[in-house]
Amino acid sequence: MNSNMPEDKGFDQTLNVLKEGYDFVMSRNKALGSDVFETRILGEKTICLTGSRAAELFYDHTRFRRSDAAPKRVEKTLFGEGGVQGLDGEAHRHRKAMFMGLMGPDEMTEIGNMTKKYWKEYFEKRDPDEPVELYEAAKIVFLNVACEWAGVSLLGEDVEARAAEISDLYESPAALGLQHWRGRRSRSKAEDWIGGIVKDVRAGKIEADSGRALYQFAWHRDLAGELLDEDIVTVELLNLVRPMNANSVWVAMIGLALNEHQAEARKLKDADSEQMEWFIQEVRRYYPFFPFAVARVDMDFEWEGYTFKEGTLTLLDLYGTNRHPDDWVDPEVFMPERFDGWQQTPFNFVPQGGGSYDFGHRCAGEFITIVMIRETLNFLVNDLTFEFPPQDFGFEFNDIPAVPNDKIRIENFMLK
Ligand code: HEM
Repeated sequence: MNSNMPEDKGFDQTLNVLKEGYDFVMSRNKALGSDVFETRILGEKTICLTGSRAAELFYDHTRFRRSDAAPKRVEKTLFGEGGVQGLDGEAHRHRKAMFMGLMGPDEMTEIGNMTKKYWKEYFEKRDPDEPVELYEAAKIVFLNVACEWAGVSLLGEDVEARAAEISDLYESPAALGLQHWRGRRSRSKAEDWIGGIVKDVRAGKIEADSGRALYQFAWHRDLAGELLDEDIVTVELLNLVRPMNANSVWVAMIGLALNEHQAEARKLKDADSEQMEWFIQEVRRYYPFFPFAVARVDMDFEWEGYTFKEGTLTLLDLYGTNRHPDDWVDPEVFMPERFDGWQQTPFNFVPQGGGSYDFGHRCAGEFITIVMIRETLNFLVNDLTFEFPPQDFGFEFNDIPAVPNDKIRIENFMLK
């Protein structure tokens, strides 16, 4: 390769990405002793970045663009086509504001209350003699929360089937073969469902509540003053419903942490909200979820003596940045108290991306995630008694998103 960067030698590394998953960048970062290196993935020269300094570079939108960065297989399943993730500049800022306008404190309180309500309802309806898989339960609870909050009716819908369809979108992007194709099929079905609702709102057949995302997105105007295409409104509504549903992955990891780190879990019994939050943040730091953010170099530049060539695909390793020794003491230790007095920057803790919410591509729903997971943890610790039966708590590092093999089974549960 024709550059001055440390190089991951060998042929195309796509198979190794699939084999090593979350560890791919971190293991090479250690071997090469560099937070910046060059490799070849999906037949393309690719720069890999890790750590907060490199993250700051990655989120400089004068140097990187998103428009042609996401692989097709990710657009066809996870993101959809034409959504906010692939926009740059003014168009991005305008569209992102449509999302961020929904993320105020009142909305967070409402989402917290809904999360509590639907968890309670879920367990009231369950037979206590039947074990529950927390991961699968969370998909159903969170679909209810997401749809009620966004203004999308689930009346007459098979909620379990819809939850499975939506979860296919985030379980399939990195999968091969059948599972990947199931993801594409599920995206078509989900887009038909939400697209039909958007059409009906615009035709006046459904009266949407003006405070809800369904109304806001359906009647949003772009920079030219035009309504968005119905397909784009659909993709953006799914950019709320899908990741709210995907918070179920964090629930599985919360369950894993409660079992794996029992001394820390015991402290939660009389924890205040701050200590609860430390536990949640440590789960988001310690366990893997979203592996990389992806961009392309927008124009040639030099950084710390390295040459970045226009058009080069660039990955930021999110999991590795959260475990980078320059930013984290004993990163391999699960230690919620590390967040006591911790100094956050926009780049040192990036489970859902970094940089700016309004002007960059940082996850629009990070506050929603924290609220939903906080209410879930509260519910599991204070409102429910349960036991973990013997099961396989292991997960695979190349399974993206990683979820414990038995999906965190609980039994003998009782509402307090
Ligand atoms: C389930 C947990 C979640 C994870 C792991 C996650 C992760 C991420 C990541 C890594 C990004 C991209 C960052 C980048 O490209 O630099 C992102 C962007 C985004 N997320 Fe999330 N997210 C989650 C939950 C949510 C929720 C609950 C919502 C909305 C309700 C949401 C909406 C979005 C949107 C709209 C973007 C695109 C932002 C942009 O391109 O400007 N996410 N998320």
